[in-house]
Amino acid sequence: MGSNWLFERIAPFYDAAIRFLDPEPLRDYLDLPTEGRLLDLGGGTGRVAFAFRGMAGSTVVADAAWGMLRVARRRSNLLPVQALAEHLPFVDEAFDRIIIVDALHHFIDAAAAIREAARVLRRGGRLVIEEPDIRRWPVRGIALLERLIGLRSRFLPGEHIRELMEAAGLQAREYVDPRSFRLWVVGHKEEIAR
Ligand SMILES: C[S@@+](CC[C@H](N)C(=O)[O-])C[C@H]1O[C@@H](n2cnc3c(N)ncnc32)[C@H](O)[C@@H]1O
Repeated sequence: MGSNWLFERIAPFYDAAIRFLDPEPLRDYLDLPTEGRLLDLGGGTGRVAFAFRGMAGSTVVADAAWGMLRVARRRSNLLPVQALAEHLPFVDEAFDRIIIVDALHHFIDAAAAIREAARVLRRGGRLVIEEPDIRRWPVRGIALLERLIGLRSRFLPGEHIRELMEAAGLQAREYVDPRSFRLWVVGHKEEIAR
């Protein structure tokens, strides 16, 4: 079973419970602003996408949980789309920038989701995945707690995420912040040489 049941229940309280700490590293890794389209995949209530309002031509929030998207729908300029990350309802190369924040470990199949993200990313675009760094002990504690409450979260170490991005055809690099126990894997989709 996925984690949808939980997010459907906690959607009305989610933003109050989770504080978006610092959008700056994410904005830098994403190389915002862009005139193109931004996709926030597993974007939930759109709290992260909303922090980047005005920095992209348009912003789509895709998520499996309708309850989370209902909150995103109330935020101006966000386009909510109910979808599984593993089967995205978008044409190839539809987006200039894609973010996946705190969601990869909830996806049913992380490899399939990264392949889909790489498919809908345009050439020259960027995919940025932000995750808690499971190599750090406090994050291992959180992972254990999530298991105890019945979530099937699967946190992947940064090098594994990087390998999945490379297998999906992206050039990838990992960054870590030892103070916040967070990591970012930044993927680039190369332009075709002419
Ligand atoms: C911890 S929340 C993070 C939401 C948002 N990225 C943020 O940082 O506020 C994880 C989100 O992933 C979504 N999710 C879980 N599995 C999914 C899947 N297979 N496809 C799409 N979304 C999924 C959940 O519904 C939830 O909204």
